[in-house]
Amino acid sequence: MKDRINYGESMFHRLFGLKFFAATALIASFAIPVLAKESEEAEQQDAKKLFANSCSWCHGNFGMKAGKGGPKLAGITQDEEAIYNTLIKGQGAMPSFKNTLKPEQIRLLARYIKSLPNE
Ligand code: HEC
Repeated sequence: MKDRINYGESMFHRLFGLKFFAATALIASFAIPVLAKESEEAEQQDAKKLFANSCSWCHGNFGMKAGKGGPKLAGITQDEEAIYNTLIKGQGAMPSFKNTLKPEQIRLLARYIKSLPNE
């Protein structure tokens, strides 16, 4: 008799545990894309700030237009890796950013430029 009660209780806990797990998984599956989207937007904001400080005096409208001397960057054919190297080395009239920006900032800018819509 005692055994049956214990068995019943453990079944209850097992079922409850499963439901709890399922509910948590369900909530997480909604929350993760939302969090990922927020961090993507935060990253975009950081990149724009960097761009405004280091790049916009030559490249116009956050890379969307040619600026004073620098070309439009949206729709660029260089891939992220090539842009990264361009910024490390400099190109033509554009200086190298090796000593003025951190590698992760250059990485962020390269990703940002590739994310610009080609209009
Ligand atoms: C002093 C002005 C100046 C500044 C500041 C500047 N650029 Fe440039 N950038 C240029 C010029 C000029 C070119 C074209 C160089 C060439 O090909 O002769 C260029 C080219 C580029 C290219 C390559 C474009 C292509 O299609 O070949 C990228 C990418 C780029 N700039 C990104 C940036 C980023 C990101 C920043 C900020 C960290 C920045 N630039 C800051 C002047 C500038």
